Amino acid sequence: MTAAAQPAVAFATAPGAAAVAPRPRLRTDALNLKSCELRHPGSDRLVERALARVRVEDTRSYPYQAETLVALARVHDTPVEGITLTAGSDAAIGLLVDAFARPAGGLVVARPAFEAWEYYARLREVPVTGVPVLVGTPPRTDLGALAGALADAPSPAVVALANPVSPAGLVLDTAEVAELAVLAAHHGHLLVVDECYGAFTGTTHVPLLRHHPNLVVVRSCSKAYALAGARLAAVFSHPGLAAELFKYRPDSTVSGTALALLGQGLDALDEYRAVWADLARIREEFVAAVLADRPDWTFLAPGGNFATFVTGDPELPDRVAAGLAERGVRIRSLTSLTGLSGAFRVSLADDATMRRVAGLIREVSDHHA
Ligand SMILES: Cc1ncc(COP(=O)(O)O)c(C=O)c1O
Repeated sequence: MTAAAQPAVAFATAPGAAAVAPRPRLRTDALNLKSCELRHPGSDRLVERALARVRVEDTRSYPYQAETLVALARVHDTPVEGITLTAGSDAAIGLLVDAFARPAGGLVVARPAFEAWEYYARLREVPVTGVPVLVGTPPRTDLGALAGALADAPSPAVVALANPVSPAGLVLDTAEVAELAVLAAHHGHLLVVDECYGAFTGTTHVPLLRHHPNLVVVRSCSKAYALAGARLAAVFSHPGLAAELFKYRPDSTVSGTALALLGQGLDALDEYRAVWADLARIREEFVAAVLADRPDWTFLAPGGNFATFVTGDPELPDRVAAGLAERGVRIRSLTSLTGLSGAFRVSLADDATMRRVAGLIREVSDHHA
C-alpha cells in the first residue's frame, strides 16, 4: 500500500506538536562542514582505537554509568552526584525544558541560540523570550540586554546561554557569566550555559557551580571527542538539580557503547588536547588564507572547531553556501540569525581539506562579487 492509500490515523497529540516540524537528517555525498563534527586525523585515530577496545559486554549488557561518571568527575573536578548523562546535548536541552522550563513557565534564550531550545519550548508550549547577545557590525558580545531581560522576565524562568557564543565563535569571559548567574539567582532564575565548543577555547563554567547553585552547564561530547554519532553529553549541576533530572530516566537512553567510548576519550585526554591545539593551528591557517583573498571580511575570533566570517553583505553567505554546495561542500549561512547578518560558518577539517575549501571560497565569492 502506498503512503497515500493508507488510512489516516488520528490520535491525541500534545498541543505543542502542531507548532514544530522536525526534519530528518538526509545523507548526501557532500562533505559536511556545516555541523561542526570533529574532523581531524588525530581524533579519527583515537576513536578507531577506542572502538577496537569496546567489549561485547558494552553492548550485550545494560550499561552501568558509574565508571564514566567517576572519570568525568575527576577530569572536571566536580562531584559525581552533580553529573547527568544524556544522549547528546539536544536531548539534555529537551530534558531541561521538561524538568525546569515547563514547570517554571518561561524560557529566556540568548540569541543566536542552538535551535533545540526554541524547538523543545514550542513543543512543550513554554513561552520564549529571545534576547540578543551580539551587537554591532561586525558583532561583539554584550550581555546588557540579557541582564535587563532577567529583571523583566516573570520569575522563575530558565535562561539559556551558549559560551562560546555559537555559532558566532566569540567567547564571553566566565567572570561575566558568573555575574549573570548572580543576577539570575537574584531574580529566581536558573541559568543554563551550553559550552558545546568549550574544549576548543579552553572555556568551562563547571568550576562556577561551587558558588552558583542556580547554574547548569551542558557539555556535549559530540564535538570535543568526535562522538557525534555516539550521542552523549554531560549536564553538570548542583546534585539536587541532578536528582530532579534523574527522575526523567535519562540513563535509559545512554548506550553502553557511548559510555565506553567516552571513558576511553577521558583516558586519552592529553591526546585529545593535542588534537584541539592542532585544530587551532589549522583554523589560524585557514582564516589567514580566506582573509588574504577577502581582506574586507572579518573573522570572529577565537572560533571553535569552526571559523565564522562576517562578509558585510547580507546576501553573500547564501551565495557562498550555494556555490560550495555545487562543489560538494556543505557550510552554513548564518545571515538570517540575530546579530549575524552577512555571516557564514565553516567547520574545520584536516589541512588539505581546508586549503581546498579556502580555494573554493575564493572561487565562489569572487565569482559572485
Ligand atoms: C551550540 C550547540 N549546542 C548543542 C549542540 C548539539 O550537540 P549534541 O550533538 O550534543 O546534541 C550543537 C550542535 O551543533 C551546538 O552547536
